[in-house]
Amino acid sequence: MSRFPIVRSRRLRQSPALRRLVAETRLHPASFVLPLFVVPGRGVHNPIHSMPGHAQLSVDELLPVVKEASSVGVGGVMLFGIPGSKDEQGSGAWDPAGPVPEAIRAIKDQVDDMTVWADVCLCEYTSHGHCGVLSGEIVDNDATLPLLGQTATVYADAGADVIAPSDMMDGRVAAIRSALDSANHRELAVCSYSAKYASAYYGPFRDAVDSAPAFGDRRTHQMDPPNVRQALIEVAQDLEEGADMVMVKPAGPYLDVISAVRAAVDVPVVAYQVSGEFSMIEAAAANGWIDGDSVMLESLTGITRAGASIVLTYFATRAARILETL
Ligand code: PBG
Ligand code: ZN
Repeated sequence: MSRFPIVRSRRLRQSPALRRLVAETRLHPASFVLPLFVVPGRGVHNPIHSMPGHAQLSVDELLPVVKEASSVGVGGVMLFGIPGSKDEQGSGAWDPAGPVPEAIRAIKDQVDDMTVWADVCLCEYTSHGHCGVLSGEIVDNDATLPLLGQTATVYADAGADVIAPSDMMDGRVAAIRSALDSANHRELAVCSYSAKYASAYYGPFRDAVDSAPAFGDRRTHQMDPPNVRQALIEVAQDLEEGADMVMVKPAGPYLDVISAVRAAVDVPVVAYQVSGEFSMIEAAAANGWIDGDSVMLESLTGITRAGASIVLTYFATRAARILETL
């Protein structure tokens, strides 16, 4: 039975001030983490065509971008490296002189009060583009684990605040936790990409870091898109192994997964609005088909409303700047 006209939902929507007052979700730049791509060298700024406004950057070019993000209150940066050369093992991943450790040291030295996240995976570093070492044409789970542990330790030694394994090998959180602990990094946080789906939305990223697998795909280790209960198994397993935060990725097409994980655990839930989500909004906006800034904020609001405590987004700096003016 309708209580109209006693009840009128429109009353709380009458002015911007009232709408702001009753908003159930608020975006804050401190909850955003900006992904960045680091390459060796100096003065390198290679624009990524499918990701307007983003580029592969050498450390000297990266620093101003990090400082700009920090100046508008962005909570962190997530670093991905592209090595000078790739090999079968992905040995560039644990090179202490590689672009990621170098960038971590430079940011820690020059930018105050911002968290530095290091993505841990081998696919940017292997000649075949797979996330681990191969046995024949199979990604060898257990043989990959020590390499991930070693990579995490190198990033920890460089000064990273959060280690974020994205490879989806079973047992990686335990392997990384024990490698970190034996290297005296007992207090260093791990954010696991727990529910990372085998997604077509990663396309622009793979162009950006040249990590498309030379053959096959990642479906034997990344999650199958139809599954949500399985995500809770992955999350529980990672927490058992010592993960401090858990991630759902991609974000927009997986809001139900974010919400289920939020309901199941009390650690921070991180959502990754991936390259394809970013590029689709940018492409439509460039064509004049949508209002880019509005869709950007609405997409981030949806991800936050679903239950994400932290959002990894290529929009981090732009969204932070707009939020400053609201
Ligand atoms: C590497 C990795 C990927 C992304 C983050 N880490 C790609 C993949 O698994 O192929 C995707 C990020 C994005 O699309 O923005 N394991
Ligand atoms: Zn990978």
